[in-house]
Amino acid sequence: MTALAEAHAVRADDLVVRGLCKAYEGGAPVLSGIEFAIPSGQSVALIGANGAGKSTLLRCCMHLIQPDQGQVHLLGHDLADLKPGALRHMRSRVGFVFQKHNLVPRLSAVSNVLHGAIARSPFARSWLQGLASGALREEAMRCLARVGLAHLAARRVDKLSGGQSQRVAIARALMQGPRMMVADEPVASLDPSSGEEVMSLFANLVRKEGLTMLFTSHDLSHAINYADRVIALRNGVVALDAPSAELSVATLRALYD
Ligand SMILES: Nc1ncnc2c1ncn2[C@@H]1O[C@H](COP(=O)(O)OP(=O)(O)OP(=O)(O)O)[C@@H](O)[C@H]1O
Ligand SMILES: [Mg+2]
Repeated sequence: MTALAEAHAVRADDLVVRGLCKAYEGGAPVLSGIEFAIPSGQSVALIGANGAGKSTLLRCCMHLIQPDQGQVHLLGHDLADLKPGALRHMRSRVGFVFQKHNLVPRLSAVSNVLHGAIARSPFARSWLQGLASGALREEAMRCLARVGLAHLAARRVDKLSGGQSQRVAIARALMQGPRMMVADEPVASLDPSSGEEVMSLFANLVRKEGLTMLFTSHDLSHAINYADRVIALRNGVVALDAPSAELSVATLRALYD
């Protein structure tokens, strides 16, 4: 086997999407035959105008909404074949981060991060109640330290800034022990400087852990700087799919005209 073939053999695809179509009830098609595959460890930015179907595609990729046609293989499994329990298990291997962080406002940062462990095991809820003081809590503290927030572990998250809250959301996703991260406009609600800081931290963590990443963004420089590859949606199809090293903001900007 050549070195190249060997590299392909070990770099399995974590997400494969084939012929994916989706229309909401009574509406025009949003996605019309989307195709792409993301190899393990690759970071991909999904871009496109408002309403282009980015969030719809992310949800279809996790079968949070059912595609009308097409296949999604996540971490080696065809999601259409999975029973609800197995589907939940597959989703638990993916850490989600959204524009709105969906933290529990009255709980401390560390308690919010501990909730990431619930997704990991069907027994985790009771396990959390019993053991949260021990090993699990230490693990949550380590996740907070990785996003630079160990010193704010005890603070209620409704007393944190937007950028700090988004870091807690990232720590919570890390606590799941994910193989892949999916993020829908993870820094869109932050000011430009916090957005840059949080996106850079997020992308570095993902790279360091060797995680696969799929994120949407309206910030074209983020797409180029923090992803290995950019996929653009337009009129329900993939209008561009290229390595970010070959792209410029001007090239991407032209896709919005
Ligand atoms: N639950 C829904 N029911 C009906 N139509 C929907 C629903 N969710 C989204 N749509 C429509 O599907 C299209 C794609 O929406 P989607 O939210 O996926 O776009 P997007 O690319 O994520 O946009 P944005 O950049 O604004 O987040 C839009 O026309 C939207 O109005
Ligand atoms: Mg969206």
